[in-house]
Amino acid sequence: MSETAKIILEGKEYELPVITGSEGEKAIDISNLRGLSGYITMDEGYKNTGSTLSAVTFLDGELGILRHRGYSIEDLADNCTFLEVAYLLLKGELPTESELADFEHKITEHTLVNEGLEGMFKAFPTGSHPMGQLSSMISALSLFYPKSLNPHRDEDAISRTIIRLIAKMPTICAMIYKKRNGHPIVFPNNYLDYVTNYLNMTFGQVTDPNYTPDPVIVNAMNKLLILHADHEQNCSASTVRMVGSSQSNLYSSISAGINALWGPLHGGANQEVLEMLEHIKNDGGDVTKWINKAKDKNDPFRLMGFGHRVYKNFDPRAKIIKKACDEVLEKLGVNDPVLEIAKKLEEVALSDPYFVDRKLFPNVDFYSGIIYRALGFPTDFFTILFALGRLPGWISQWQEMRLEKQPIARPRQIYTGQAPREFVPMEKR
Ligand code: ACO
Repeated sequence: MSETAKIILEGKEYELPVITGSEGEKAIDISNLRGLSGYITMDEGYKNTGSTLSAVTFLDGELGILRHRGYSIEDLADNCTFLEVAYLLLKGELPTESELADFEHKITEHTLVNEGLEGMFKAFPTGSHPMGQLSSMISALSLFYPKSLNPHRDEDAISRTIIRLIAKMPTICAMIYKKRNGHPIVFPNNYLDYVTNYLNMTFGQVTDPNYTPDPVIVNAMNKLLILHADHEQNCSASTVRMVGSSQSNLYSSISAGINALWGPLHGGANQEVLEMLEHIKNDGGDVTKWINKAKDKNDPFRLMGFGHRVYKNFDPRAKIIKKACDEVLEKLGVNDPVLEIAKKLEEVALSDPYFVDRKLFPNVDFYSGIIYRALGFPTDFFTILFALGRLPGWISQWQEMRLEKQPIARPRQIYTGQAPREFVPMEKR
């Protein structure tokens, strides 16, 4: 007989099924508990709640393992292009040479955006945050493709929407960058690979058709995008699935994911890391003072880029990115006082019992911000790069939710408000 769990409530015993994942992870299936007993389970922030079965990504936070479709993040980051990993996430298998060529070709056919989308920049106030612009523009794409709105209409339309999103995202991200600088937009060049094309649209100029990014930078960007490609049921992926579960269209689900990612406790941390490092530098560079502030329970300050909800020993992505970070800084000959602060902070925090006891280690955002800065991206643009990398993961999670016909996501609550009371007319309040 398969394993079950027993729960005793008010003297009555309930037997609940146990689900075992392909890596041996266990879950008690409580979906019928309320129907049987009237009880729900409570878990604020879903710290111990599985929201879905998923075959996309496996991670073990204790052992620092991250795998996409069974392949380790280390192997993928060392051997693949970002589009290869995107294909793997979306289709479940690594592409053959011809499958990859076909996928890349399809993407190049959709890299341009409708000219009407450019008009949106007139409405955005000067200096408005790139993430707000990105989520608005991705949401606006749904208005340009009304035939793709119904997620159950036809599979060809869905496939086209997926390709469109992956193709247009770098173009839109680069447009946001150019517009903030008041520079003319550089159009996509379909003879360049995905990452070089994105760098060309961002750092190239219409006056310089020969701009060629340094291969070290292309390689680092490729790795950064791969490392961000998916991370199972994190806040933004869960948001994408949740919005999608109402059968809202893919553009609006991705736009919601971008908004969830923007927060400083999630993807927005990479911006916060650099702002924190600059703040510490401008304050005189006393790292110990800021470590003590982070440890003080009465001080709201947190060391941004440290800690993770699921990784409790190390973040495998941080390990890979730290190496790429060192390579990029050496190659570019960067000599930045902010980086010195980062190194000191890392050193002190890693040996401080407060951080060691709580298993607080530098996460991917700690190092990615440092590389993005060295590559010349403005601080408030860092989370855009995270979104660009995370897009195939969000789409894969959405696709899985749709194909598995998952029900609309709708958690329960325990009400703690007022008991029923008599209405008080205005004159008696
Ligand atoms: N600085 C100082 N103390 C911290 C930090 C930090 N960065 N992170 C956690 N702690 C402490 C908490 O105060 C708590 O201490 P206590 O047990 O004495 O009360 C303990 O460590 C556990 O922290 P929680 O907040 O309960 O852990 P949770 O899993 O809810 O939060 C999170 C994880 C949000 C990532 C948190 O570590 C944090 O705020 N880090 C800084 C922001 C950041 O870098 N976010 C990026 C995450 S990675 C990503 O999204 C790609």
